[in-house]
Amino acid sequence: MPSCRICGGTLREAFDFGRQPVADAFVAPKDLANEFFYRLAVAMCATCTMMQLVEGIPRERMFHTDYPYLASGSTAMQAHFQGVAQHFLDNELKDPGSFIVEFGSNDGIMLETVARAGVRHLGVEPSTRVAEAAAAKGIEVRNAFFEESTATEIFAAQGPAKVIYAANTFSHVDYVDSIFRGVDVLLSADGIFVFEDPYLADIVEKTSFDQIYDEHYYFFTVRSVQAMAAQYGFELVDVEYLTVHGGEIRYTVARPGARTPSPAVARYLERERLTGIAEQRTLDRFAANIHQLRDSLRDLLLRCREQGKSVAGYGATAKSATVTNFCGIGPDLVSYICDNSPTKQGLLSPGTHIPVRSPEEFAQDYPDYALLFAWNHAQEIMHKESRFQSQGGQWILYVPKVHIR
Ligand code: SAH
Ligand code: TYD
Ligand code: ZN
Repeated sequence: MPSCRICGGTLREAFDFGRQPVADAFVAPKDLANEFFYRLAVAMCATCTMMQLVEGIPRERMFHTDYPYLASGSTAMQAHFQGVAQHFLDNELKDPGSFIVEFGSNDGIMLETVARAGVRHLGVEPSTRVAEAAAAKGIEVRNAFFEESTATEIFAAQGPAKVIYAANTFSHVDYVDSIFRGVDVLLSADGIFVFEDPYLADIVEKTSFDQIYDEHYYFFTVRSVQAMAAQYGFELVDVEYLTVHGGEIRYTVARPGARTPSPAVARYLERERLTGIAEQRTLDRFAANIHQLRDSLRDLLLRCREQGKSVAGYGATAKSATVTNFCGIGPDLVSYICDNSPTKQGLLSPGTHIPVRSPEEFAQDYPDYALLFAWNHAQEIMHKESRFQSQGGQWILYVPKVHIR
């Protein structure tokens, strides 16, 4: 067992999913022989309580030219990030020449609002195709990984940033030491580093174990983020709960003493202590719930097959790789997965080889059941696909429990 990637403490393994493919590695039939697998397991640090992957995979295997995730595929997420951008514009970026850097800017879902307001900005995004999609919207993008060296170059060329922001990206990066050194170089004296990522307490409470896959290297709590920030010479000054992606927290970090800490930090620390999120019994319960969820989802799909009912998946999410591979769900149980990303259509799901098809194909011939892999977008998708239900189709959900709607 390696030691904690952040503080060097002892890791306690919480769950082992066994052999898993790269979650966003949708594969063409001709490339099936080249699929890459690794052992997916998570462990919690006995000292700083950070939950983390036991084995990471090289970043270039995940984030490369053909990385298929398009953040703007959800209108609810577009509205979310417009709100984030507007908040920064109204509160942090009012001085002329203010500068904001976003890493993991993807297709520009957040920065497009900043660019439209004419405010100085830079997206840092290693995955070329999504970086080009952002550039095509008139956003300034640097096609690179954010880390100490990139931050140093940005600072030399453009000076300090008032805001450094990352959504669903900071927790994807095992080299947090280099990120914090980069933030230290680039952030202005009174600037803030803001990041939002899935909240471990929600993952455990909702048994949303599908949040565990290669790209999610860390699973943050307020306690573990506070310890991490302090270790790298920063202070956690605010936390805010977000309902997106099944429950996230937006953390605001600043240089020590630069900002007055919000009472929310202490409130969340106390709640985490009371609910015992870092205790072994909580992790044992999580493990038992994962096994139970797997068994009931498999039972339901096997029953559908016995009764001759057709089942399609909805949302070729990265999360679905963990569900399908861990639960043994292949094209025999779920005949295809419907997804609106042109970057995924026509390919096969990693490891389980379920074909990905367009929403138009779904609408042409509805299945009896649709298994909602994109459960975090349930409201948006069920609304959009209301005809499926009115024609007798039913949704299968598995978070927080397997149920039919
Ligand atoms: N911020 C968007 C996209 C999240 S997906 C959203 O919340 O929807 C994560 C993105 O981070 C991917 O586009 C990936 O290419 C990028 N990424 C991964 N490591 C990175 C790094 N070190 N620096 C900058 N971007 C990174
Ligand atoms: P998401 O849950 O955001 O992320 P991850 O891949 O990290 O688990 O992915 C949602 C997927 O669902 C994405 O591939 C786009 C697809 N999708 C649709 O097909 N239709 C929709 O209406 C929405 C909102 C998403
Ligand atoms: Zn640790």
